[in-house]
Amino acid sequence: MSFTVAIDGPAAAGKGTISKGVAARFGFAHLDTGLLYRAVGRRMLDGETPEAAALALTAEDLDRPDLRTAEVAQAASKVAAIPAVRAALVDFQRAFARRAGGAVLDGRDIGTVICPEAEVKLFVTASAEVRAERRYLELAAKGSRMTREEVLADVKERDARDAERAAAPMKPAKDAVMFDTSALDIDAALAAAIAVIEARMSAKG
Ligand code: CDP
Repeated sequence: MSFTVAIDGPAAAGKGTISKGVAARFGFAHLDTGLLYRAVGRRMLDGETPEAAALALTAEDLDRPDLRTAEVAQAASKVAAIPAVRAALVDFQRAFARRAGGAVLDGRDIGTVICPEAEVKLFVTASAEVRAERRYLELAAKGSRMTREEVLADVKERDARDAERAAAPMKPAKDAVMFDTSALDIDAALAAAIAVIEARMSAKG
């Protein structure tokens, strides 16, 4: 039986951490769909056209160690606005969402476009300042020299591009549960997500 949890929201809102915790708690498979766009962005930076890169994407592309940089994040958000790139990645994501045993996917358009029939939809947010601070600490731990101000500007620029694009813009599904993690630590955010999922599972029977 399939059971899909869709987790959407802006950059560095905590989607990845919540998704991993949910996957571990329920034994679901997890797909970080941002990695697909990051891998296409990476290949574009290496000289390919985004459309060709999206069509040629392989599992090894997702294992590249250099996908979490700010440069790749910006490239990801640029290629993600191209309809042909998004179209090339739809079937893989839909099949993943409906796999037997349950799946959690995090991204920007999972509850709206990829899996509008998902059993649970969460839209995870936090203030831009809180998100930028989290991302700043992550990047600094990996040796980045970006300042807090640069990371904040980067996050805001990407959010604006992701929300304003015509193709599958970032927005909450009408039936998404909204989750503001500005004042929640990760344990509290994860516990809240798990409670929503358990309630939905018992309602489904
Ligand atoms: O980790 P972070 O939240 O900063 O970003 P990400 O989830 O890795 O996504 C990187 C970029 O990919 C986003 O800024 C979006 O432009 C794009 N993306 C998208 O358009 N649709 C998705 N389902 C996931 C990511």
